[in-house]
Amino acid sequence: MRKVIFDTDPGQDDAVAILAALGSPDEIEVLGISAVAGNIPLHHTVNNALRLVELAGRPDIPVYAGADRPFAHRLVTAEHVHGVTGLDGPDLPQPVTKPREGHSVDFIIDTVRRLPDKTVTIAALGPLTNIALAFLKAPDIIERLQGVVLMGGAYFEVGNITPTAEFNIYVDPDAAGIVFRSGADITVLPLDVTHQMHSTPPRIEAFRQIGNKAGAAVAAMLTFSETYDLKKYGWNGAPLHDPCVTAFLLRPDLFEGRRVNVEVETGSALTRGMTVVDFWRVTDRQPNAFYVRSGDADRFFALLTERVARLP
Ligand code: BDR
Ligand code: CA
Repeated sequence: MRKVIFDTDPGQDDAVAILAALGSPDEIEVLGISAVAGNIPLHHTVNNALRLVELAGRPDIPVYAGADRPFAHRLVTAEHVHGVTGLDGPDLPQPVTKPREGHSVDFIIDTVRRLPDKTVTIAALGPLTNIALAFLKAPDIIERLQGVVLMGGAYFEVGNITPTAEFNIYVDPDAAGIVFRSGADITVLPLDVTHQMHSTPPRIEAFRQIGNKAGAAVAAMLTFSETYDLKKYGWNGAPLHDPCVTAFLLRPDLFEGRRVNVEVETGSALTRGMTVVDFWRVTDRQPNAFYVRSGDADRFFALLTERVARLP
């Protein structure tokens, strides 16, 4: 059983990642959800996290509000992909549950310190602001963590929000730099793998065919959020990013990667947020992450569908 804190900016793809985890209670214990500003401003990410735990029938899972802006930059959002609420698509009711008192960063620190060493994983689905703040405030948690499994960055696919940067890293490159330099056990699910996971019409239809509320919501979410990407890429389905994190936690054998050094560009205006990945090991920089390069898309979608099917 893996104990996991989801740090997230939901976001339709964040939503699928969280729902698939909540549909996997034998393998993943979701300790809480820590919201961060990213795809949309913080008040929407908190509200969406609450809507998701209620959709999954798990209002007991604590939701915390975290950072409302990156370390040094103005917040860049992605309503052009996710809609004004960030979860446009399905008609989800407003939540009854409230966020918990206190800041996400303190929730992360207290949770990691409270539980036995090497038993808590952070699944990071948004800009890394909360995690970097937690590492700066309580460096002892870095060693105590089992690991950080994050969606972010790119090497072969280079960028999606600028020609050279992936969104999560671009929004807060300073935070990403702190996390990659921290010494934590990091696994990266970059665009290089998420661009292989196409939400094709039959794969979206499979969620709808489940016949439960969660499956219908997932199908409506992905139908909404793919509109922008289908035009952008011209593929047969939009890439599905954040669920790669949940799938990696559940079935690492669906993925292939290698340990490499990852550094983040924070200085250049042109390439801000670029992840410089020493994939071919042409420097003597020490590996600081397990970098996933590819994955099995059919088994990935089958796994997600099966887990969403276990929800109400
Ligand atoms: C990442 O950016 C966000 O828009 C998605 O939720 C995902 O976390 C993909 O670049
Ligand atoms: Ca996200």
